[in-house]
Amino acid sequence: MKVLNFGSLNVDYVYSLDHIVRGGETISSTKMETFSGGKGLNQSIALAKAGAPTYHAGLIGEEGDFLLEACQENGVDTTYIRKLPAKGGHTIIQVDANGQNCIILYGGTNQMITKEFVDEVLGNFEAGDYLVLQNEINELPYIIDRAYERGMKIVLNPSPFDDKLRACDLTKIYLFMINEIEGEQITGFSDKDAILKELEKKFPHAAFVLTLGSDGAVYYDGKEKVFQDIFKVKAVDTTAAGDTFSGFFLAKLIEGAPVAEALRTAAKASSIAVSRPGAAPSIPTREEVEQGLAKEI
Ligand code: RIB
Repeated sequence: MKVLNFGSLNVDYVYSLDHIVRGGETISSTKMETFSGGKGLNQSIALAKAGAPTYHAGLIGEEGDFLLEACQENGVDTTYIRKLPAKGGHTIIQVDANGQNCIILYGGTNQMITKEFVDEVLGNFEAGDYLVLQNEINELPYIIDRAYERGMKIVLNPSPFDDKLRACDLTKIYLFMINEIEGEQITGFSDKDAILKELEKKFPHAAFVLTLGSDGAVYYDGKEKVFQDIFKVKAVDTTAAGDTFSGFFLAKLIEGAPVAEALRTAAKASSIAVSRPGAAPSIPTREEVEQGLAKEI
């Protein structure tokens, strides 16, 4: 069994500020740093660090070599990462004094995936393998249809949520990993129980992990409902906290851990990521997460 993550790779340009800039305002940043990121890359690194056999497929641009290296250094198989002579995906991220962020995303090469490339990559995976997707690359509807035909288990983090997702056949998704806002965008409800009920109605064959910010996270598959609180930490930078959660949760689940253990591990991993700056560099190792959990007992 293998895990393929077909996803974005971004250069994150991170600006530290007292507060997120308001419309018409100009403020000076106190620090500017460059990190490897992208929801795809972050989730691949989290999956690999958590111990899952992870392959990343995606396209980097001219300045993206260090993204490829970041994947390799963290144990991600990069056979299916290609480089194009074009501007790569990147972000401008503001991080305020409380560690909260806002992100401007430029798709670049992440939006240049072709059907031929999808076919070539998926040809190396088979029924029972996992496919992890987010919404920062193009050709998602095609990738979902072809992977479903192959019998792959498709895990979708529909982030950032936009209208393009409406072209995807979401009934083919095996596991949704979503936050409250995405839950509301998909179902029209804001209450967590109403979101889960509606998700079950729309996608009766899927399971769901709904993250609730400081209120924790809940797993639901139509039968089992499991709740997990957050581990409180001082937030330095919340970027990639959700990606870390997704990667560790899925890796534990694939390993055969009970849902409650997978959620607890994911919550601890994400709390460590929140306490550190940057996206991919903030993702902890499995050992760090296990040591952190041991201290909680
Ligand atoms: O989820 C965090 C990621 O979102 C950042 O690394 C940034 O690249 C954006 O894609």
